[in-house]
Amino acid sequence: MAKACYIHIPFCESICSYCDFCKVFYREDLAASYLERLEQEIKQKYQGEVFDTLYFGGGTPSSLSPSLLKRLFSLCSLFSLAPSCEITMEANIESLTEEKIKMMKEFGVNRVSLGMETTVSSLQQVLGRPFSKESFEKTCSLLRKYGISNINVDLMYALPFETMEDLKTDLDFLCSLQVPHISTYSLILEEHTKLKIQKIKPIAEELDLAMYQEIEKRLKQEGYQHYEISNFSKEGYLSRHNLTYWKNEEYYGFGLGAASYLFPYRRGNTKSLTKYLQGEFSFSEEKVLREDAMDYEVMLGLRLMKGIDKKAFQKKYGVCLSSVYDYSSLVEKKVLKETSSFVALKQEYYYVLNEVIIAFLDRKRETVANKCF
Ligand SMILES: C[S@@+](CC[C@H](N)C(=O)[O-])C[C@H]1O[C@@H](n2cnc3c(N)ncnc32)[C@H](O)[C@@H]1O
Ligand code: SF4
Repeated sequence: MAKACYIHIPFCESICSYCDFCKVFYREDLAASYLERLEQEIKQKYQGEVFDTLYFGGGTPSSLSPSLLKRLFSLCSLFSLAPSCEITMEANIESLTEEKIKMMKEFGVNRVSLGMETTVSSLQQVLGRPFSKESFEKTCSLLRKYGISNINVDLMYALPFETMEDLKTDLDFLCSLQVPHISTYSLILEEHTKLKIQKIKPIAEELDLAMYQEIEKRLKQEGYQHYEISNFSKEGYLSRHNLTYWKNEEYYGFGLGAASYLFPYRRGNTKSLTKYLQGEFSFSEEKVLREDAMDYEVMLGLRLMKGIDKKAFQKKYGVCLSSVYDYSSLVEKKVLKETSSFVALKQEYYYVLNEVIIAFLDRKRETVANKCF
């Protein structure tokens, strides 16, 4: 079966105040050595499977200079890519030049994910990400000029000091862009970030919820399908790569801090650039029991508005979902809705997804579950 592949490019030209991702300041010499090691890691681990999706994430992959971008694409010739492979690259508008877009198009990149976060200048200052709306529009136009119209935009909300009016300003701009996919992120104040060190307080939970509801209402009005708890898409533009994760399917992860899931192993790479550059790629390995794989299936499947695919579950594990988990009371209480094919979260409970997941997993039928293994 075709698999997904994630490649981590950990370089950024500036570091945002909220970011906890695995990243370092861009330096051409470090990036060049990194790509050499990346090639070595791929040669060591890749077993030749066909990839249905390829995703360059970061950090900021578009921060690579044109010559290193060329190098990155040429090392991807090691892969066997399906003819219809979805190839996504994360980018930000500061580093995405016309020259790089041309190279991306030539290589086959057919989806670009742009971090917008917010257009309100006082909030941009808090995040450390200033840019003008005009430059953002210009980048979208350039991508379309080169035939890359499958664009995702990341929107952050629940930012320190953000008001509902600020969010509406961002949504107005976002909708005017007419991009086919939008990912939304409620700010998480992560340890060791500038915002956390500055002891910035989160906004009130009620406002966070009201913002989530506003986003959902507005994007639905604009014709977006809310298909995953934080993701919206126009018809036919669901993120195929991210669906691999949410459907608990297998994927390779190469590069600093990258994770992979090749059943029965979940593996993680080192987050130390020094170690990675010394050729010490791997950091952790966990053997996933079938029982745990089923729990993952539930946790991830409930993120999808369509829900957990009961037939796929039965096919993968040889048992039906309801014989492993007794979730009937959650259906009776109208927390979940069930059809012959899916079990899904009801819209009123999207905001408390984690609590529902805990309740679902708590209802594991120990005796039946044990029989499955
Ligand atoms: C890998 S990052 C983005 C790629 C690219 N470097 C950029 O910043 O545009 C993916 C997205 O995660 C979101 N994100 C990052 N840190 C976050 C945090 N602490 N809380 C909520 N969302 C966050 C942002 O929306 C960001 O665009
Ligand atoms: S949010 Fe993106 S650009 Fe900012 S530091 Fe993190 S990875 Fe880099």
